Amino acid sequence: MSANRIALVTGANKGLGFETSRQLALKGIKIFMGARDIDKGKSASKKLKDQGLDVECIELDVTNSSHIKQAGEYFEKHYGRLDILVNNAGMTHAEEPFFGNSAGTVSAAAVRKIFEVNLFGQVELTQKLLPLLKKSDAGRIVNVSSILGSLMLQSNEKSDLAQLKPFAYDASKAALNQFTIHLAALLKDTPIKVNSAHPGWVKTDLGTDMAPMVVEEGAKTAVRLATLNQDGPTGKFFHFNDEIPW
Ligand SMILES: NC(=O)c1ccc[n+]([C@@H]2O[C@H](COP(=O)([O-])OP(=O)(O)OC[C@H]3O[C@@H](n4cnc5c(N)ncnc54)[C@H](OP(=O)(O)O)[C@@H]3O)[C@@H](O)[C@H]2O)c1
Repeated sequence: MSANRIALVTGANKGLGFETSRQLALKGIKIFMGARDIDKGKSASKKLKDQGLDVECIELDVTNSSHIKQAGEYFEKHYGRLDILVNNAGMTHAEEPFFGNSAGTVSAAAVRKIFEVNLFGQVELTQKLLPLLKKSDAGRIVNVSSILGSLMLQSNEKSDLAQLKPFAYDASKAALNQFTIHLAALLKDTPIKVNSAHPGWVKTDLGTDMAPMVVEEGAKTAVRLATLNQDGPTGKFFHFNDEIPW
């Protein structure tokens, strides 16, 4: 792998995206922290810069095609490549409460809103950056998914997860997993590796204070997948080193 790797982490102004940025930067990787609110992004990147880490903030709402185009043009102009893309930005619910978000009642508008961020944004951004990732000698794409998107676990009545059915979120993460599978197949003859990460249930604004895991642990799966060596897996779904069924 080349020195001075360059990574883009979306939704990096807080939570898992911030911590993933920090841990990757500690490995000597130059990090671009995507944030849809540039002020929040600047204040987040300043915290890491103050720790001596090599990070920059980039304005990136993953549902904004102009932001995506600008990001592509920026990496093309300044680096001519991108080594790591962590598709971390995500949301759990729109108007309906997370756990009241049932397949029988959630509005189509709410489902669309969640898919815009959790799937369509990731697809558009990844496709824009793919030519640059192909120029890396070790391109890595990590789609930050959730075990709640596992069709096998959701369809097994005996699984603990089967009791948790926030439909729009689960469907968006299942679709994101399909993106991982399709992209990995498409890129199988290239050095690029594409995997889905389940962080665990982690204390963040999204995960709430009830979550058992701290963010330092939660970021580890994405960090591992972003820094896999050339013998590492592609087209898989992991929590730490454990493979999760699709
Ligand atoms: N925490 C958990 O227990 C858990 C479990 C499984 C999977 N995950 C996944 O992990 C990822 C990170 O979640 P988190 O727990 O760190 O949540 P978080 O603290 O709520 O952070 C979510 C991040 O995504 C950003 N975001 C939302 N919509 C965006 C958009 N349109 N464009 C760009 N950024 C956007 C948010 O920006 P703003 O600050 O501007 O809103 C924020 O930076 C998500 O994909 C989530 O589904 C989390």
